[in-house]
Amino acid sequence: MKFNFKSLLILHLFCLIGKIKGIKLLTTVLVYSNYDSTYTPMAKRFNEYAKEHNMDIEVEVELFLRSNSSLFVDDYGSQIEHLLKKRSTKYDLFFYDVIYTPRYSPYFVDLRDYLPEEHIANYSLGISSESCTHNGKWVGLHFSVTNSYLYSNYYYLNKYNKTIPQTWDELFETAKYIIEKEKEEGNKIIGYNGHFPDYETAISSAQEVIYSFRKTVDSPYPDYTSQEALDALNKLKEIKETLSNDDIFKEDDNYLFWKNILFIKYWNTAFAPYYNKTLLVGNKKGVSASTIGGSLIGINKYISEERIRAAAEFVRYITSYEIQKEKIMYSKGYTTLTPLYDDEEVCQYVDCELGKKVQPIIRPSNLTDNYDKYSTQFRKYFSDFLFGNKTAEETLTRINDITGIYYVTLDNKENYAIVLIILIITIIIITIMTLSLIFLLINRYKSWFSFLSADLWLIIYFGLMISIGPIILRYGEITHIKCHLGYSYLALGYNLIYIPILYKLIVNFQVKNKLTTWIQKNKYLFLVIFILIDLIFIILLYLLNPNYVVTNIIDEGKNFKYCKITSTAGKLIFTTLFAEKLLIFLCILMFIFMEWSLKKTSTDLKLILSAIYTNALILIVSYITHFINYKDYINKFILDTSIKLFYVFSNYIYLYGIRTILPFVLNNKEAAERDKYLKKIITSRSSNSHTKTNLIATENNSKNKFSIITSKIMDFHYTTGEEELTISDDVSVPTAPQIQKSNVMQ
Ligand SMILES: *[C@@H]1O[C@H](CO)[C@@H](O)[C@H](O)[C@H]1NC(C)=O
Ligand SMILES: *[C@@H]1O[C@H](CO)[C@@H](O)[C@H](O)[C@H]1NC(C)=O
Ligand SMILES: *[C@@H]1O[C@H](CO)[C@@H](O)[C@H](O)[C@H]1NC(C)=O
Ligand SMILES: *[C@@H]1O[C@H](CO)[C@@H](O)[C@H](O)[C@H]1NC(C)=O
Ligand SMILES: *[C@@H]1O[C@H](CO)[C@@H](O)[C@H](O)[C@H]1NC(C)=O
Ligand SMILES: *[C@@H]1O[C@H](CO)[C@@H](O)[C@H](O)[C@H]1NC(C)=O
Repeated sequence: MKFNFKSLLILHLFCLIGKIKGIKLLTTVLVYSNYDSTYTPMAKRFNEYAKEHNMDIEVEVELFLRSNSSLFVDDYGSQIEHLLKKRSTKYDLFFYDVIYTPRYSPYFVDLRDYLPEEHIANYSLGISSESCTHNGKWVGLHFSVTNSYLYSNYYYLNKYNKTIPQTWDELFETAKYIIEKEKEEGNKIIGYNGHFPDYETAISSAQEVIYSFRKTVDSPYPDYTSQEALDALNKLKEIKETLSNDDIFKEDDNYLFWKNILFIKYWNTAFAPYYNKTLLVGNKKGVSASTIGGSLIGINKYISEERIRAAAEFVRYITSYEIQKEKIMYSKGYTTLTPLYDDEEVCQYVDCELGKKVQPIIRPSNLTDNYDKYSTQFRKYFSDFLFGNKTAEETLTRINDITGIYYVTLDNKENYAIVLIILIITIIIITIMTLSLIFLLINRYKSWFSFLSADLWLIIYFGLMISIGPIILRYGEITHIKCHLGYSYLALGYNLIYIPILYKLIVNFQVKNKLTTWIQKNKYLFLVIFILIDLIFIILLYLLNPNYVVTNIIDEGKNFKYCKITSTAGKLIFTTLFAEKLLIFLCILMFIFMEWSLKKTSTDLKLILSAIYTNALILIVSYITHFINYKDYINKFILDTSIKLFYVFSNYIYLYGIRTILPFVLNNKEAAERDKYLKKIITSRSSNSHTKTNLIATENNSKNKFSIITSKIMDFHYTTGEEELTISDDVSVPTAPQIQKSNVMQ
């Protein structure tokens, strides 16, 4: 009996050695007894069975007992996983604890492929369909099962003419009544044991209480944030304080041989002389709970096909109807092979009605990648509540936070203000950007926006709007597709903002050749080419980066998810995409440098340069923020969105917004500037002609190509655009904004 329960925490291994000959069974040190009464005899039986049926299969069990496996004390489960990760074929079969089904799922075969359909079908009627499967795969099958029951002391119940309780309230009232009556007679008795020892069992007990508070039999496990969970915890604490004490609650003794305890929650046992075994109570009549434990058997998927088939024979045998029938008739406990409860022979020995009514629940081992850690934290929080001074609300929040994922939402009470502020700022920026489009239509401003045509301004506007997309996407759940869209918007947005500018700079360039002429003629095609390049990258990124979402688990804090390009191929694509942007960036810088002295666009160039400098700064800052190890998702949200908002808004201001203010700022200066400028043209003529001759001289020399290019570039750099008229006739000069501006001023 004791062994049966201990095996809950035990992993057991089998191994077929040589050519389908031996299987080794391993058990952990958590077994208190130092011998194995279950697995070795079972293997022996199978070996005889195999011989009788002319199967050349022999199973051997390698035991890891408390006495000789100190190595495995700490984390036996991890040791096995470590072995399996290395694709070890040392063991062919594994007995493992039910909680590790999700953990070992990647390394075991799907039993449906190797066992008869009916065999699995008989199991799939019960809790096995949950406890044995992970993502639809049958990882193992129950060899043994443990579950918990309520044991009621019938001596006292009879004495006070009380019935076995069916609800927590009944249990509470009955126990309270009997304790008081006995107190009057001078006897001290305990009402309830709770069963919260300092290990895995405690999480089972906690889950049972919460599950037993669900609304109806068919309701799912209540959320930790629900009223049901809160009621469950408060009830449990009340019971502990009134009917029991910390020491009894922390004890793992089954008490079934004590006479002075009224109600006991414990694993199944066939022998409880003073007690009646029934279902655990619930908040309502008929609602109950019973944790399922025990050991399962699974097959190593890295062994040869032949060995898998042999191993499957063993699995089929020990989980067969006949063997399981024997087991349940002996243990009088629970079986996940539910058809057994309709077997007349079984029901002569076992309370089949009780068995059918059991409401099994499995532990949440599929919630996290590391259930052991989850369980440890869960138990610590629960213990802080039960035996400490943490409130039920606090405790449930802490438990929920172990696996809960926090998202930025507006219904988040704690950070409501800051989230709202960022949303409002975003909306204000969108509104300003949209409303300011109207300046394109105002005649007075025409000259200030003459750098680009209205359609190109609109494209920049769309680029800015798209760049806001990633900020909006930060609200709510972080999903794969949202992450992808975020990256895509940022990439496309950048091109929509800067390609029109690049286009204009090329068109304005002092020298015309086939390429620049073509670009000038094919404005949209030029833009579309860049967008297509981006789209190709975006599609490639989607195909090559199967997972963007990274979960950041914060111990004792709020977990959150964020977007990251995780695959190497994805990172490569992203780097290329980034390089493309950088190239555009450098092209623009180069053209700005060469056109620096062009008078007609000098203000525009300064503004673009400012925007680009700001972008470089933002890039550096956001690169640095990548190294921040965020502990709080709200901080990350604030920093990320602030940077993006700053990016959008600074680009908007430098490229567009400032033009709506400039007329007021420059009004007076402008006139003076213009006079100065006219004088300059006259004086610069001479110096410029000097540069010109210089250039020609270098060309003729043609000694050093690089120096030619440099000097050419320098030459362009000093070209103001006006003298160009006199020097070369084939340069077409677009309408100079300076002239238009002065018209407006007058
Ligand atoms: C542990 O002891 C048992 C019995 O004493 C033995 O069968 C088993 O092989 C030992 N296991 C190891 C790993 O030494
Ligand atoms: C499945 O269950 C039925 C009883 O419902 C039993 O007769 C049959 O042998 C079982 N089959 C297997 C493969 O366990
Ligand atoms: C975990 O298992 C439960 C019960 O089988 C299931 O309802 C739930 O969806 C699973 N959760 C995950 C994350 O797989
Ligand atoms: C016990 O309770 C039942 C009904 O609850 C009642 O009929 C019976 O008389 C009671 N017996 C005693 C001895 O109080
Ligand atoms: C409780 O167990 C005793 C002894 O086995 C039995 O006589 C009695 O009928 C049981 N009570 C109930 C309600 O099952
Ligand atoms: C809770 O208990 C701990 C230790 O027992 C104590 O240090 C702490 O002050 C208590 N807190 C409250 C709020 O009572």
